[in-house]
Amino acid sequence: MASIIDTKESKYIKACRGDNMKVPPVWLMRQAGRYLPEYRAVRQKHEFLEICNNPELACEVTLQPIRRFGFDAAILFSDILIPLVPMGANLTFGNGEGPRINPPFRSLAEIEKLRSVDPREDLGFVLESIRMIRRELPAEVALIGFCGAPFTLATYMVEGGKPNPFANIKALMYKDPRAFALLGDKLKNMVRIYLREMVDSGADAIQLFDTWAGTLHSSDFKTNVLPFVKEIFGDLRDLNVPMTYFVHNGSHLLRDIKETGCNVVSLDWRCSLSNARKIFGKEMALQGNLDPTVLLGDEKTIRKKVRGILDEAVGNGGFIFNLGHGILPMTPISSVEIMLDEIRGAK
Ligand code: CP3
Repeated sequence: MASIIDTKESKYIKACRGDNMKVPPVWLMRQAGRYLPEYRAVRQKHEFLEICNNPELACEVTLQPIRRFGFDAAILFSDILIPLVPMGANLTFGNGEGPRINPPFRSLAEIEKLRSVDPREDLGFVLESIRMIRRELPAEVALIGFCGAPFTLATYMVEGGKPNPFANIKALMYKDPRAFALLGDKLKNMVRIYLREMVDSGADAIQLFDTWAGTLHSSDFKTNVLPFVKEIFGDLRDLNVPMTYFVHNGSHLLRDIKETGCNVVSLDWRCSLSNARKIFGKEMALQGNLDPTVLLGDEKTIRKKVRGILDEAVGNGGFIFNLGHGILPMTPISSVEIMLDEIRGAK
């Protein structure tokens, strides 16, 4: 049983399955986060990892944006890097510096030492958060579980932090393909069982974040990313939940992304929805793709840009409105309200 509550009627799920709606479902990447005063209030008392590790706190912050904006989907509050901890990574989040993995994993010997993960045993708090959130959410709001894809997780493990300019991960890929493949394989195994357990615990859909795969040439994507991602989606197909794949900066990879076996493609703002539709056809749903910085603009601009996306996407296959990447911490609440008003046509 994938879900305790039947969310088949959720607008989000319907759009993922290809239904086209005049008013599309909407949620935002990083919708639970620092732009919300109620999130900042929780963060004043608790560290980020503490919130991720505590089901009550994770549940509370997951629900915050649903209560305030009535989004059509909730995304579990966690981070793609959390499952790397039981594999053996020393993960910290410095204030404002983003994640660090120290020491990084750069040699075959270091990679060989990585442990395999038993999600029930090692990540039980995440599965408990999912059960708790699903109980609290209205039935028509879908719950999205997620994981990082192997290449993006490998990037953090090898770089040790913000990947700039991807020298270490690419050096490993080009110099030591055996170590790179072993790391990819270990991560792939973790991702498959972790996502399966998330669905088993009540997630109605899953999203695989491959933020950094866009740094690769198509030929390297085909060799070093696609086989892992394809295997993950192939393995999870029997769960019969929508599976979304997100690549940041991936406009040059759309034809390769089509081969992954995902049901929904999450696009960043650099590619046009109508071009993407030509490539993906109507069998795949599209999600996206407002530039998050538009929400720092004035009301007229926000409405115009949102309308532009709707004009391109509505009436043309399954579509879920989202941003092209995470919402920025300095985004005014009023901008999100204007965006929703334009989508839902309240005026
Ligand atoms: O989207 C959501 O609301 C669900 C929760 C979520 C977070 N991170 C919470 C978070 C999800 C789905 C992620 C995914 C994630 N994490 C990705 C893939 C998507 C993307 O943004 O490209 C990546 C690459 C990460 C790694 C990560 N976590 C980075 C680079 C950072 C620092 C950047 C930043 O915004 O500070 C984080 C921290 C993080 N993850 C925060 C949140 C709400 C901010 C933590 C805080 O409150 O201080």
